[in-house]
Parts: sequence; structure tokens; C-alpha cells
Amino acid sequence: MKAKSVFMILATVFFSIALSLMAATSEAAKTKVKVSKEAQTCIGCHEAQSPSLVQEWRLSRHATKGVDCYTCHKSAKGAPGALEHNGYTIHVLVSPKDCNQCHPKEVKEMTESHHAQAQDVLNSLDNYLGEVVGGPEAVTVGCRQCHGGVPKFLANGQLDPMTWPNTGIGRINPDGSHGSCTACHTRHAFSKAQAREPQTCGKCHLGPDHPQIEIYQESKHGILYEANKGRMNMNKDSWVVGKDYTAAPTCATCHMGATPNQPVTHDVGARISWTLRPPISKKLENADQRRARMKDVCSSCHSAPFVDNFYTQYDNFVNFYNNKFAIPATQIRQALIDKGKLKANDYSNKLEWTYFEMWHHEGRRARHGAAMMGPDYAWWHGIYEVAKNFYTEFLPEVKEAAGPELYAELTKKYIEPNERHDWYINGISKEQLQNIQKFYNQRYGGETAK
Ligand code: HEC
Ligand code: HEC
Ligand code: HEC
Ligand code: HEC
Ligand code: HEC
Ligand code: HEC
Ligand code: HEC
Ligand code: HEC
Repeated sequence: MKAKSVFMILATVFFSIALSLMAATSEAAKTKVKVSKEAQTCIGCHEAQSPSLVQEWRLSRHATKGVDCYTCHKSAKGAPGALEHNGYTIHVLVSPKDCNQCHPKEVKEMTESHHAQAQDVLNSLDNYLGEVVGGPEAVTVGCRQCHGGVPKFLANGQLDPMTWPNTGIGRINPDGSHGSCTACHTRHAFSKAQAREPQTCGKCHLGPDHPQIEIYQESKHGILYEANKGRMNMNKDSWVVGKDYTAAPTCATCHMGATPNQPVTHDVGARISWTLRPPISKKLENADQRRARMKDVCSSCHSAPFVDNFYTQYDNFVNFYNNKFAIPATQIRQALIDKGKLKANDYSNKLEWTYFEMWHHEGRRARHGAAMMGPDYAWWHGIYEVAKNFYTEFLPEVKEAAGPELYAELTKKYIEPNERHDWYINGISKEQLQNIQKFYNQRYGGETAK
């Protein structure tokens, strides 16, 4: 009786171990997942605790290469952010320094790029607006989710909720590294196919001050991408434009992707020649070399004269925006400050909002529209708004702040010399007015416009 029940228990235990081993091997065989001894323990709990997280990892390239929970999350005792967790020392945050064990090229390029510096905006105007004119709570769930925060720990070693969750692209990590790879390679699949999608960039590159995703969707490139998703070969290991896909470029194609002459780069600034972010655009250092890299991408699908002409239109546009609007507005504002008529960045003053939005919102939208083939952003959301605000808000507000005498002096110095402002100084010409009337009469008949 006794011996029999011991035998039964032993048999059951043996049988269930065998069964679970079989299940484990057949599953491992199916997905070819390799797991270290430590990670088996992690998975043992996390399978129940967070099953989707574990399954996404299982489906990843990493799982097939033995890169597991413990490889990425292991920490040295006492290291910044180290946490004692069920018998293991781990860190929750996994930084570029951790990825660097195996991906030094990507980490180096990313670290040297503007993306890794994106957190460094504390002393910017935008940040004053965010922290002071708005409020720090908005900075936590707004700015920092794109730009990156500085994760901090509470006394008990847990991450401070004021600073995490956060996967902003320029995050400053507890180990001193800058950047967040997860900003594009979402956990725990860490897939390059997903990072190649325009939507990956669209989390941050959208909205009133940098609508790159909207511009892309408007452009023929975005249209072709939508129409040909099935032919983009996003899942292919090699993804060289002209070889592995031909239908359309995505953001990643132009700014990062491989061509027959160039490898993938994680420095997203490597191919841009202007900076379109400040009030007045400037050409970057080594602009020609940077531009040559971008032209190499275009040349997979376009002829050289077509691409050269595009760049001529783009350069002309940026120079026109600078010269007609950005430079005079900036100089006039500076003159008001110098003469004590305006306090710089005093946002209780409408003039400062008008100036800020002119370059930071509509002025950027216009330049981005011109750079990435979005005509509606170049004009209606762009220069149309710049012009409207320049003539009907900015200049009248300058007049009010300056008084008639100084205003006359300022327009004489900064507005009148540019003949493109003649219409504003002298009004529309009789001849032009007649032409416009004729156009509407012919097009719509009757008395539509005067
Ligand atoms: C005994 C079960 C168990 C084991 C073993 C275990 N975990 Fe956990 N882990 C948990 C639970 C439960 C939570 C959620 C904590 C909570 O909800 O309070 C968690 C949370 C975490 C977190 C998030 C912590 C946070 O503050 O957000 C990470 C990262 C983590 N585990 C990684 C690991 C790794 C890596 C291993 C293996 C080295 C591991 N875990 C082993 C049960 C376990
Ligand atoms: C390739 C590296 C890598 C591997 C492998 C990996 N992780 Fe992570 N894990 C990360 C990154 C990156 C984050 C995001 C943390 C951050 O913001 O830095 C993260 C976050 C987490 C979190 C907290 C996030 C949340 O949404 O609650 C848990 C829990 C976690 N990992 C558990 C695991 C477990 C369990 C495994 C194994 C099945 C695993 N990780 C494998 C890189 C990895
Ligand atoms: C211990 C080494 C190791 C670590 C640490 C590691 N990886 Fe990997 N990673 C690999 C290997 C191996 C591959 C597969 C490469 C191959 O097959 O060519 C890979 C592939 C990738 C891929 C391509 C996946 C695909 O879809 O083909 C991405 C993206 C990636 N890793 C990102 C990361 C990020 C981000 C981190 C840090 C959070 C990280 N890796 C940490 C070893 C590692
Ligand atoms: C939706 C994501 C997102 C939010 C929210 C956001 N930004 Fe940005 N910010 C960006 C992107 C993307 C750029 C780069 C745009 C470009 O290059 O056209 C940028 C550019 C900037 C720049 C210019 C950097 C340079 O090198 O010239 C500053 C400064 C800035 N942001 C500060 C802030 C502050 C402060 C806040 C909050 C008050 C904020 N941003 C909110 C995504 C965001
Ligand atoms: C701005 C988005 C973005 C960020 C941030 C980013 N990546 Fe990538 N990564 C991509 C894209 C897009 C690809 C696919 C490129 C291609 O194949 O055209 C890629 C590909 C990779 C690959 C596969 C390389 C290969 O040759 O197969 C690895 C590995 C990788 N990234 C690691 C990292 C690491 C590590 C970090 C952080 C230092 C990082 N990435 C940050 C967008 C990003
Ligand atoms: C998590 C937010 C985020 C994501 C995702 C993101 N970016 Fe950015 N990007 C930024 C911010 C913020 C800046 C401005 C950084 C600065 O100048 O301080 C920026 C700047 C840039 C720049 C200008 C670089 C330079 O040197 O001036 C390019 C180009 C760019 N991003 C392309 C991309 C592409 C392509 C993707 C997707 C594959 C992408 N970004 C994904 C936030 C993001
Ligand atoms: C057909 C190629 C192409 C595609 C697709 C493309 N871009 Fe661009 N992008 C450009 C060119 C060209 C410029 C201007 C380069 C220069 O100044 O020389 C540019 C400029 C930029 C800048 C710099 C803006 C600044 O303020 O200085 C950012 C950021 C950017 N692109 C992000 C994106 C994002 C995000 C996507 C996808 C939603 C995207 N791009 C799609 C070609 C492309
Ligand atoms: C993978 C192929 C591919 C790449 C790479 C590519 N384009 Fe295109 N592009 C196209 C196609 C196809 C069209 C649509 C032509 C048409 O109007 O029928 C197009 C259209 C255009 C247009 C015309 C837009 C319009 O509305 O008529 C311009 C300008 C342009 N591309 C410039 C560029 C520049 C500049 C680059 C590099 C920065 C580039 N393209 C990269 C395929 C590409």
C-alpha cells in the first residue's frame, strides 16, 4: 500500500516532468528559442505575469540567437539602477550601453546623431513655454516622451513615476549613455521591419511644428507606399533600395536606408544639408557631402536632372522664406528689444507669440513641405499662414509697440528695400486688380469678385 502510493507519486512526478520537457523541446524546436538557465526562471514567472511580453520576445530574432531576458536585463550589484529581483540583480531600463555588447556600430552612429542629443532642450524657448507658461506635468507626458527624460530612482530603488515610463529618443540613462533604442525598435520584438515603417517616426515627427508624417502621407512617395505595401518587402533581412524594393521610399529609406553605394546609417542627420528648425535656416557643415548622400538615394528611382531641379526649387524656397520673412521679422523684433520697446520672450505679450509661431510653426511647416514634396504644407499650411501673420498680425503689433516714428524707421530699413513687399507698401496695382476681375468674370461669370 505504502510502496504503491510512493510509486504512484514518483510515476506522476516523472511523467509530468517528461511531459513538460517534451512540451518545452517541441516548442523550442518549433521556434528555435534558446534560453539560458537564468532566463528560464524569468520566463517561468513572466509567462504568467506578462504573457504577451514573453511571447513577443519568443517571436523575435533575439530569441533565436540566445539573447534572452537575462542578457539584456542583468546588472552588477550596486550599479546605477540595479534592483534585487527574485534572486537576480537586474535593471529595468535597458540602455544603448546594453545593446552595445552586440551592436556597437548602431550605438555609435545613434550616439553621435541629433537623436541622442534630443533631451538637451532644457534651456530652449520651447522648454520655457513647456515648464513655465504651461506646466511640468505637461512636460512629463508631452515633450519628454518625444525628446527623452532623465529617469530617477526613489529611495526604495524603484523608478520615480515622475520620470518613467519614458522612451524619448534622447533619454539620459542612469549609466550615463544617451538615447533610447526602444524609441524605434519597440520591445520585445526589436524588429527592423517595424522600424522601417513611417508610423515609427510619426510618433514624434508630426503636428503643428514638424508635420513630417502628414507631409509624407500627402506626397507621392506616401501615396505609393500605401498602394504598394505588399511589395515593400519590409520583412526582408537585406533592404537595399533598387534591389529589395522599388515601389516607394519610406522615411527610413531616405534618412537611414541602404543603397548599393551606402550602408544603413543610424545617424539620421547624415543626409540633410539645411537645418530647417531655427527661425532662419542655415546650411549645415559639409552640406554638399550630406546632400550627395541623399541624392544617391533618389537616384535609384529618378534621373539626375530631375533630382537637381528638385534641389534648386528647395534651395530657392528656403532662401525666399529666409529673405522675405524670417530675416526682417527677426531683425525688427531685435530692434524693438534693443530700443526697450519689447522684452524678449515675454509671453504675456502677443507679439512674442506671433513671432514664435511664424517661424516655429508655419515657417517650419512651409520648409518641411518644400523639403519633402508636400505642396499643401509648403503653401496653405505654410507660406500662406506666414504671410498672413507677417502682414496682418506681426507688423501691426510692431507698429503698436514701436509707435509711428520708430515704425516708419523700421519699415524703411527692413521692409521697403525688398521689392517683394512693394504690394504692401503701395497697395495692389490698378492693372493687377483689373486682371483679377477679368479672370473671375471669365471663370464664373457675373459679379463674383471686385
Ligand atoms: C518569482 C517570479 C519572478 C521571477 C523569477 C522573475 N520575475 Fe520579474 N517580475 C515578477 C513580477 C511579479 C513582476 C511585477 C512586479 C509587480 O507587479 O509588482 C516583475 C517585474 C519585472 C520587471 C519590471 C520591474 C518594474 O519595476 O517595472 C522586470 C524588468 C523584470 N521583472 C525582469 C525579470 C528578469 C530579467 C528576470 C530573470 C532574471 C525576472 N524578472 C525574474 C516576477 C518574477
Ligand atoms: C534585447 C534586449 C531585451 C531582452 C532580450 C528582453 N528585454 Fe525586457 N526590456 C528591454 C527594454 C529595452 C525595455 C524597455 C526599458 C526601457 O525603457 O529602457 C524592457 C522592459 C522590460 C520590462 C518592463 C516594461 C513594461 O512594459 O512593463 C519587463 C517586465 C521586461 N522587460 C521583462 C523582460 C523579460 C521577462 C524578458 C525575457 C522574456 C525580457 N524582458 C527580454 C530589453 C530587453
Ligand atoms: C548579446 C547580444 C545582443 C544584445 C545585448 C542585443 N542584441 Fe540585438 N541582435 C543580436 C543578434 C545576434 C541579432 C541577429 C543578427 C542577425 O541575425 O544578423 C540581433 C538583431 C537585432 C535587430 C534586428 C532584428 C530583425 O528584425 O532582424 C535589432 C533591431 C536589434 N537586434 C536591436 C537590439 C537592441 C535595441 C538591443 C538593446 C536593447 C539589442 N538588440 C541587444 C544580438 C544582441
Ligand atoms: C510629438 C513629439 C514632440 C513633442 C511633444 C515635443 N517635441 Fe520638440 N521636437 C520634436 C521633433 C520631432 C523635433 C525635430 C523637428 C525637426 O527636425 O523638424 C523637435 C524639435 C525641438 C527643438 C529644436 C531642437 C534643435 O536642435 O533645434 C526644441 C528646442 C524642442 N523640440 C523642444 C521641445 C519642448 C521643450 C517641448 C515641450 C514643451 C517639445 N519640444 C515637445 C518632437 C516633439
Ligand atoms: C530613428 C529610429 C531608430 C532608432 C532610434 C534606432 N534604430 Fe535601429 N534601425 C532602424 C531602422 C529603420 C532599421 C532598418 C534599417 C534598414 O534595414 O533599412 C534599423 C536596424 C537596426 C539593426 C539591424 C541592422 C542590420 O544590419 O540588420 C540593428 C541591430 C539596430 N537597428 C540596432 C539599434 C540600436 C542598438 C539602437 C540604439 C542605439 C537603434 N537601433 C536605434 C531605426 C532605428
Ligand atoms: C521618440 C521620438 C522620435 C522618433 C520615434 C523619431 N524621431 Fe527623429 N527626431 C526626434 C527629435 C526630438 C529630433 C530633434 C533632435 C534635436 O535636434 O535635438 C529629431 C530629429 C530628426 C532628424 C534631424 C536630424 C538632424 O541631424 O538634424 C531627422 C532627419 C529625423 N529625426 C528622422 C527620423 C526618422 C527617419 C525616424 C524614424 C525612422 C525618426 N526620426 C524617429 C524625435 C524622434
Ligand atoms: C524621398 C525622400 C524622403 C522621405 C521619404 C522623407 N524625407 Fe525627410 N527629408 C528629405 C529631404 C530631401 C530633406 C531636406 C534635406 C536637406 O535639407 O538637404 C528632409 C528633411 C527632413 C528633416 C529635417 C528637418 C529640419 O527641421 O531640419 C526631418 C526631421 C525629416 N526629413 C524627417 C522625415 C520623416 C519623419 C519622414 C517620414 C514621415 C521623412 N523625413 C520622409 C527626404 C525625405
Ligand atoms: C523607391 C523610389 C523612389 C525614391 C528612392 C525617391 N523617389 Fe521620388 N518619386 C518616386 C515615384 C515613383 C514618384 C512618382 C512619379 C510620378 O509622378 O509619377 C516620385 C515623385 C517625386 C517627385 C514629384 C512629386 C510630385 O508630386 O509630382 C519629386 C519632386 C521627387 N519624387 C523627388 C525625390 C527626391 C528628391 C528623392 C530623394 C531625396 C526621391 N524622390 C526619392 C519614387 C522614388
